Amino acid sequence: MQAVYFNGRWVAPEQARISAFDRGFLFGDGVYEVIPAFKRRLFGAEAHLNRLTRSLEQIDIQDPLTRVQWLDVINRLVSDCPSVDVSIYIQVTRGAPAKRDHAYPDPPVPPTVLASASAISPLSAKIRTHGAKAITVPDLRWGRCDIKSVNLLPNIMARQQAVAAGAVEAIMVREGIALEGAASNLFAVIDDDLLTAPLGPHILGGVTRNRLADMVKDQGHIPLLESPIPFDRLFDATEVFMTSSTRDLLPITRINEHPVGTGRIGPVWTELSQAFTKLKQQRET
Ligand SMILES: Cc1ncc(COP(=O)(O)O)c(C=O)c1O
Repeated sequence: MQAVYFNGRWVAPEQARISAFDRGFLFGDGVYEVIPAFKRRLFGAEAHLNRLTRSLEQIDIQDPLTRVQWLDVINRLVSDCPSVDVSIYIQVTRGAPAKRDHAYPDPPVPPTVLASASAISPLSAKIRTHGAKAITVPDLRWGRCDIKSVNLLPNIMARQQAVAAGAVEAIMVREGIALEGAASNLFAVIDDDLLTAPLGPHILGGVTRNRLADMVKDQGHIPLLESPIPFDRLFDATEVFMTSSTRDLLPITRINEHPVGTGRIGPVWTELSQAFTKLKQQRET
């Protein structure tokens, strides 16, 4: 198995052992990031590392590595990975003080740092041709979904409900608004506008979401509205798709028991997913 970066050292995965008092283990007191590379080229690394810095700042954990050190670690993981399409996982927790206490350890202890690599599997031909099903679920998450916290229990439960219903993703609905997926952002074509939830505390600012939104604005011919998607309007959508770093633009052709639009892949997804693939192929740092 490929070595992982663990607290400043490169070790076999089974040697990356945390203390039973690690606050990530005890409290979910930590944050994470997922950075993709395609054909061994990082995609959106700066934006992902900016989000990691912000998540750490928001929960008062000092960033354990400089930007250059993070990039060194990430580049090594990408080049050592047997697969050419790679997902880099980074997790930083508040470390392992001697005693369990809700308040931050004082003085602080060194954070626990893990970075590892795994293969990204492309979307199946079946999903690219026919789309996939999503379900809607009540959003049980906290009020700071903009922080990429390792506290993912509501997301896990939602995704499991989706799997049990034969769906690929769960759409979180809070106070009548369809916000985002368990691990993806939501886009819907309604009355020829492309809608996605505005940034704020109730969604994670997805790097794919932001990149796609910029691309659509640059292209200029599809009106993009960063505005809330009312739950009932979701069923008037002619197209729905969900975005994330490892699943790109995931076309949704069925929500609960209702077809989305005609129930087939639509022209907006087809155009944007092709354009996004091109964007990914462009060289960037
Ligand atoms: C809740 C949530 N929203 C959106 C996303 C998509 O973010 P990104 O495009 O940066 O992968 C994720 C990714 O894990 C997520 O967990």
